[in-house]
Parts: sequence; C-alpha cells; structure tokens
Amino acid sequence: MFILAVLSAGLAFAGEPTFTRDVAPILYRSCAGCHHAGDIGPMALMSYKEARPYAAAIRAAVLSRKMPPWKADPRYGHWANDPRLSDAEIATIKAWADGAKLEGKASDLPAAPEFPDGWNIGKPDLVVAVPKFTLGEGKTDEYSSVDIPTNFAEDRWIVAAELRPGNRKVVHHAHVFVKEAAAGKPAAKDPAADYANWLIVREGTLHWMRPDAPVIDDGCSVDDNGMLPGRKLAQMGNLLSSYLPGRPAVAFPEGTARKIPAGAKLNFQIHYARTTGKPETDVTSVGFIFAKKPPERVLYYSYLSNQMFRIPAGDPDHKVTGCHTFDRELTITSLTPHMHLRGKAMRYVAKYPDGREETLLYVPAYDFNWQFTYHAKEGIRIPAGTRIEVTAEFDNSANNRYNPDPKSAVRWGSASEMEMMDGWMEYIEARP
Ligand code: HEC
Repeated sequence: MFILAVLSAGLAFAGEPTFTRDVAPILYRSCAGCHHAGDIGPMALMSYKEARPYAAAIRAAVLSRKMPPWKADPRYGHWANDPRLSDAEIATIKAWADGAKLEGKASDLPAAPEFPDGWNIGKPDLVVAVPKFTLGEGKTDEYSSVDIPTNFAEDRWIVAAELRPGNRKVVHHAHVFVKEAAAGKPAAKDPAADYANWLIVREGTLHWMRPDAPVIDDGCSVDDNGMLPGRKLAQMGNLLSSYLPGRPAVAFPEGTARKIPAGAKLNFQIHYARTTGKPETDVTSVGFIFAKKPPERVLYYSYLSNQMFRIPAGDPDHKVTGCHTFDRELTITSLTPHMHLRGKAMRYVAKYPDGREETLLYVPAYDFNWQFTYHAKEGIRIPAGTRIEVTAEFDNSANNRYNPDPKSAVRWGSASEMEMMDGWMEYIEARP
C-alpha cells in the first residue's frame, strides 16, 4: 500500500519492481490464459525472456485497460474469471516498464500456470478429433456439422471439456453437442414443429429465418414468446463445450459434471471463416477430463433466446427481449451473451417471486470478438418462480463499424452477417 501511495504521488520508486517478484504474478493470473504458446494471444508472456521485448506494449495495453479484455459492467455480479487489474497492479507494471525492467531473483518467481500441450483445462483423458476439413476456394463462409461416435460402452461423466481449433486462422467458432443414440419410435407428428421447420430457410450449411415470418421483438410479452413455435428453453441442454472468439476454456464448477450417455455421438458444429484467401485445412478436436468419482450435481446448459426478431435497416438502437420463468429452484453458474456483428449491449435481470429485481449481468459494449462466459464466483441462487429477462440492444446503423449491411433489415440466421439473440446460461438444480 505504501508503494502504491508513493507511485500515485508520482515520486521516485524506492525499490525497483522486478519481473519475477512483482510482474510475473500479475501476468500469470490475468494474461497467461490467452498469452501462452498456441493460444489466442499473439505472443506468449510466460517468462522474462518472452515479456521483456513487449514491456512498452504491455504498459500501454494495461494503462488503457485494453488488456486484459473484459466486458462486464463491474457494478453487477462477482465473476470468478474476472481478470481485471487493480490500480496497484497497473502501477507496478508501469513502474517496471518505465524503469530498468529488472528480471529479479529466480527464487521469487511463483509457480507458472500449466498448459500441458497448450490445453487450458489440463491434460485431457480423451481427445476426439474431426476428420480433416478443407476450406477450398469460394466466397462464403462454411459451416460444417459432423457426427463422431464415442463408442462408449457405458455412461461417462466429464468434469471439463475444451474445444480446440486446429487452425485458428479459419475456425471462427465451434460447438460440440452430445447426440444420444436414437430412441426406438419416431416422435409423434407435431404441428408446431412443422410450422417452426417451415419458418427456417436452409441453404447448403446455412439456415435463417424467412424474411416474411411473423415478427416478435418483445419476447417477454409472454414467456418464451420469441422462441420458435413449440420450443421452450428447457429443451436445449446438450451442449458440451464451445469455442468462441476471445474465450479461454475453463473446467466446470467444482463438484459438477456433464453426462455423455453410452453409445452417444459427438456432434461438432464448426464455422469456418474465409480469412486468408487461400485453401486451408483444419482438424478441430475436443479434450475431455473424466470425473474421478460420481458427480454431486449435473451441470445444465440453456439458452434464453429470441429467434423471431427483426432489426430494421439503419436502426441504431433496437431492443429485443427474451424471458423464461423457472419452475424449480436453481443455481446459475455462468452467463454468456451471444449476438453477432450488430450486437451492442445485453442485460440479464432476475425478477424474484417476492417482487425484487436484480441485474445479474450487464455488458454495455458487447464486442463480437470478445465473447466471454461470465462464471459466477458464488453460484447465483434463484428460487422457483424467478423470471429471467434478457434484453439485447442492436446497432444496425452505419455508425457500427462492424455492420456488414446497414441498408437492410436483418433477422435470425446462422451466418455472422445475420443475427442472433441468445442469453446462454449454465446452472445446477437444487438438491431434492
Ligand atoms: C482473453 C484473452 C486475453 C487475455 C486474458 C489477455 N490478452 Fe492480450 N491479447 C489477446 C489477443 C487475442 C490479442 C490480439 C488482438 C488484440 O490486440 O485485440 C492480444 C494483444 C495483446 C497485446 C498487443 C496489443 C497491441 O496493442 O497490439 C499486448 C501487449 C497484450 N495483449 C498484453 C496483455 C497483458 C499484459 C495481459 C494481462 C494483463 C493480457 N494481454 C491479457 C488476448 C488476451
């Protein structure tokens, strides 16, 4: 604290900060997750040798708070993976970079976080890869969907999953889902499902909402109103892991696991972006860590979505909502806002049965390139009867520099140039 006071007063710094004692602990906690060999950061920052040449860039990046990237409004929620630096930490880095950039004593260096073969979750027990994909000549992005059998003879529980792109230049994002072995008889005919099916146009590997489909921007006028006809939040629980721009993988919360049933397949959905102008190949894989003992809790994944919205051409601030009331007590473990290039802000609000209202997460300047999952420090307990309300704001004007086409209205669709409005949520159920 004394050091901070001296620094912020702009006076001389008595003991020069050193890399091993003062800087490395900050880099290990807040930077290493992305800045290690093979991950998304453009350079590794794990050692003095690696960090020293970037001292000036590191200084600038932390002073401007460009690094570490983080998008949540700090007034709401407490997040386990919040990497933001304190003023004291920023002052330490500044003093080091402005000073002699000393290395310091080797014995001061804390244990470095480990990334075996580059994996963030630790060394996987099993790695499953997709067959080599070739992104050939062409204009549009491609979306691949492939099923890989697990050949698991019995149900397996996993405590961590990490989806890893083989070729980070072209894998824009990817998901891996569990696809259970088909149940005996086909589902009964469902008119709502037929109608939902008709609303979606499918062309090649892309799909999108018919331009003339009914428009529902206020999905909260009735619970689940913005979902496709016949769909409700609870039906989407089979996602195992995602790779999204700017997001390092983490293990599931302590004591929780996800099930991969015997005989299930893994369905990989991968969005390939044409970024290099030449043919590229990719082998994306997922790594799993198996539970050592039976899990205490099952971790569920849901999305509170609106798929029926329409964002008018040029509109700088278009609101779209989605709501769901939970009939059971839950503990929310993470929240992930997901929109595409016109996404501007997203807010999750809990309306409790006693009438209280609380903002759980607010991302005021959503950025498509930094799609974080916000992992709750302590789970967020919501009693039965709590309504979760997700509000998205979109900027379809020419002032949005990422906007691919401000002259057209845009609806739900899988390509990045189309839009999505998803409030993803992970949760565990209360013990019976
Ligand atoms: C969530 C992942 C992530 C974290 C955490 C992170 N970085 Fe980065 N960093 C990136 C990526 C990706 C880039 C390249 C893209 C960009 O500059 O936006 C980058 C770029 C940089 C650059 C180059 C910036 C420039 O202006 O060209 C510096 C310096 C940097 N990071 C330092 C840090 C430091 C120091 C920390 C920790 C205090 C940190 N980063 C934490 C992902 C991360």
